[in-house]
Amino acid sequence: MTGQSYAGKTVLITGANGAIGTATAKMMADRGAEIFAVDIPGTDWKAFRQAVGHGDRVDTTEADVTRETDVKDYVIKAKTRFGKIDVFFNNAGIEGKYQELPDLDIENLESVFNVNVKGVVMGLKYVLPLMYAAGKGAVVNASSVAGLGGSPGLTPYIMSKHAILGVTRTAALEAAAKGVRVNCVNPGPIDGRMMDSINDGQGGQQKMHDATAAAIPMQRFGTPEEVAGLVAFLGSDDAGYCNGGFYTVDGAMTAA
Ligand SMILES: NC(=O)c1ccc[n+]([C@@H]2O[C@H](COP(=O)([O-])OP(=O)(O)OC[C@H]3O[C@@H](n4cnc5c(N)ncnc54)[C@H](O)[C@@H]3O)[C@@H](O)[C@H]2O)c1
Repeated sequence: MTGQSYAGKTVLITGANGAIGTATAKMMADRGAEIFAVDIPGTDWKAFRQAVGHGDRVDTTEADVTRETDVKDYVIKAKTRFGKIDVFFNNAGIEGKYQELPDLDIENLESVFNVNVKGVVMGLKYVLPLMYAAGKGAVVNASSVAGLGGSPGLTPYIMSKHAILGVTRTAALEAAAKGVRVNCVNPGPIDGRMMDSINDGQGGQQKMHDATAAAIPMQRFGTPEEVAGLVAFLGSDDAGYCNGGFYTVDGAMTAA
């Protein structure tokens, strides 16, 4: 095992059943954490539980992060189950449909905004008070390289991930003096369902995958585990002075 121990820490993860959520849950559970995993109603948790292991320290619940009652509920359940929330990985997100602006369907805009921005903000609204009361805690919001630059056909997603920078900075300024850190991660293209879907929209999965990979200085997509490593660092005491920042994990994609 490498990295700081998570023994005795409780980690709340939304979008936990996805590629990055599962890898993060596994990495933190392997390091000793208790994991409270949240994902959309109807989630089949079998593969997640199998991948993460440590069944005695892992619990799950279903919640739609766009509904305030569900958000309030998953936070109460996590606190009831493990007594506290030390680290919150505010990770649930959707990519939306690939549509250039003249074809933009407003429902697409609203649904991406609801999950990626409203869902993240509501998570903060209900988790931060618990961390303030404890006088400590770390939040990691999921932004993206899509929060640092544009990409044709992905206005709702790009807009939502830019918003996460603003939310993160504002939350950090509110939380810093209360002992709580709020940062965000900005992954580049990561192997998994989400990039397959984006590549489909852009004209063919394999062709777009190869073209995108060739344009990345490291010539490949990242892995969910490589994002998990950064999230685990930012959630740990090793990152004690990291607050209000954004951190790329993108194979040098945004270095140019
Ligand atoms: N995959 C990438 O290349 C990449 C790159 C940069 C940033 N990100 C961001 O990282 C996060 C995780 O992405 P991923 O690759 O694991 O995607 P994923 O699709 O594998 O996982 C996302 C998870 O969020 C859940 N979710 C969606 N809507 C929800 C809702 N309303 N309520 C509750 N849960 C909901 C999904 O069910 C899914 O399990 C997302 O915010 C994504 O935008 C991904």
